[in-house]
Amino acid sequence: FDVNYELEERLKASGKDKQVKLIRDIADLANIYYIRQKEPKGLGHAILCAKTFIGEEPFAVLLGDDVVVNKNSKPALKQLIDAYEQTKSSVVGVQTVAKEDVCKYGIVSPSHSHPRENGGRLVKLNNMVEKPAVEEAPSDMAVLGRYVLTPKVFELLETQGKGAGGEIQLTDAIKRLMDIQAIYAYDFEGIRYDVGDKFGFIKATIDFALKREDLKEKVQ
Ligand code: G1P
Repeated sequence: FDVNYELEERLKASGKDKQVKLIRDIADLANIYYIRQKEPKGLGHAILCAKTFIGEEPFAVLLGDDVVVNKNSKPALKQLIDAYEQTKSSVVGVQTVAKEDVCKYGIVSPSHSHPRENGGRLVKLNNMVEKPAVEEAPSDMAVLGRYVLTPKVFELLETQGKGAGGEIQLTDAIKRLMDIQAIYAYDFEGIRYDVGDKFGFIKATIDFALKREDLKEKVQ
């Protein structure tokens, strides 16, 4: 995501002008800022490390393990941003998962007293649990790596104790945020791949290859 003159020169020297343009276009995509989480203390702690970048603005969280494709319509994050604009509240992206998989995710509990909006996709929450046992899960709606959050969550992350797996969990801080601000879940449209899982990684690789003109015939 940065200009690499040495690589550009080498590519130019071997007449690979198309590739030069490709890497230059990537470098021009965005300004990237990053910060390292010095110890693996959990997702909540990782997000807290970015506090100084964010300041007082709402912000998005995208977990790299969750790849979502929604080719013919809005990307998952845009769906969440629109829901944020509508509610002016934090929104977590969810989809239904198999019962036996609820123990891998943050699971939400929709409020029954509050009407669902946006064709049933937008729902207010009254609880969230990180990696519950099947019998304790409040629903089968799992948070799948997309969030739009208000900066208030940082105050809660600062005092958040360890939760599931002995880690500082983002889910636990969002749950506490519910006492102060409304939190919504948005059942986003799109195919989601769990590329942190071996099978999910292979599935994503094959599906993406099948969509590429230069690869699909060989992979089919
Ligand atoms: C994290 C979150 C969890 C969420 C999941 C989505 O878990 O803690 O709430 O459902 O990402 O992929 P991890 O996959 O880091 O264990």
